[in-house]
Amino acid sequence: FSLKNYNTFGIEAKAKQFVSVHSVEELKTVLQENPTQKKFILGGGSNMLLTQDIDALTIHVDLKGKKIIEQTEDAVWVEAKAGENWHEFVLWTIGQDFGGLENMSLIPGNVGTTPIQNIGAYGTEIKDTFVFCEAMNIETFEIKKFTKEECKFGYRESIFKNEAKGQYIIISVVFKLTKQKHKINISYGDIAAELTKKDIVTPTLKDVSNAIIAIRQSKLPDPKELGNSGSFFKNPIIPKSDFERIHLLHPEMPSYSVSETEVKVPAGWLIEKAGFKGKRFGDAGIHKNQALVLVNYGNATGQEILNVSKDIQKKVKELFDIEIEAEVNVI
Ligand code: EPU
Repeated sequence: FSLKNYNTFGIEAKAKQFVSVHSVEELKTVLQENPTQKKFILGGGSNMLLTQDIDALTIHVDLKGKKIIEQTEDAVWVEAKAGENWHEFVLWTIGQDFGGLENMSLIPGNVGTTPIQNIGAYGTEIKDTFVFCEAMNIETFEIKKFTKEECKFGYRESIFKNEAKGQYIIISVVFKLTKQKHKINISYGDIAAELTKKDIVTPTLKDVSNAIIAIRQSKLPDPKELGNSGSFFKNPIIPKSDFERIHLLHPEMPSYSVSETEVKVPAGWLIEKAGFKGKRFGDAGIHKNQALVLVNYGNATGQEILNVSKDIQKKVKELFDIEIEAEVNVI
């Protein structure tokens, strides 16, 4: 079974067996009937690089549904099943004037994978509105509720990438959103400028979402047109002392303070300075508008993209003495 249409990088890889599940009961049955089989869990396929065929039972989590589960005058709790498309879900919340997810408009992928790497963009992360998620234990089929604390969210990190890796299948996520007194956050990068361009002084949730959609479309390739997985690398967080040493050699290097002792450096800047932006090696390349994004021009293999990523890591290390780490899951 070809997975080419099930990963946003558009990599040709084959799964030994493939099954799409549309309900929690179906999911449980598939797990029960295949106790000893190796399993590979697939959501929106937007944060993975497939470098080989999958010698496992691939379970495509296609659980649908979104609903309001509770509300007060100011707040609303909404639940979305894992297989809901993230951006459609965000638009559904904005359509009802529920605030909190607007800055994460147009992020590719499905709701069920958002907690795994605590997705974020433009000054917001899902941990800011996340309440809990439910996940099925792959071996016992028990459904466990993970609170925000239990998820141990960090920058593109959670328990699901660490201690609990490979043990659970997320089936639904609950967010707490605002119904009034929205906390509009337009402080990141170009959002304010984008709103000014349209003469918007007091932006609505929809205005913020539209501004972010415009910014993302101008910088980030649409996976439907050019295979990619968003940021391929994380922005490295380095000790302040290292930063100060490196900054002396590269005074124009941008940075953001993350704590008293640590500094975040934009990997896109490091990669651009290393000369990779817009470069193409066969069908694998680095996007021309955003050096953090690796792209597949058509028939690149996962291995070819992985090799390009390794060349980038090596060169950045040589030039700046900074290690950059992949953000996508390399399979
Ligand atoms: N930069 C360059 N050259 C580039 C790209 C970036 O010099 O080609 C420098 C610039 O100094 C720019 C800075 O990097 O000001 C930051 O760039 P940008 O605002 O585009 O964001 P980013 O750090 O490259 C992160 C997230 C994105 C998210 C944006 C906006 C990570 C790994 N990536 O990218 O998330 O959309 O901020 O919030 O944290 C994703 O995770 O897949 C993703 C796209």
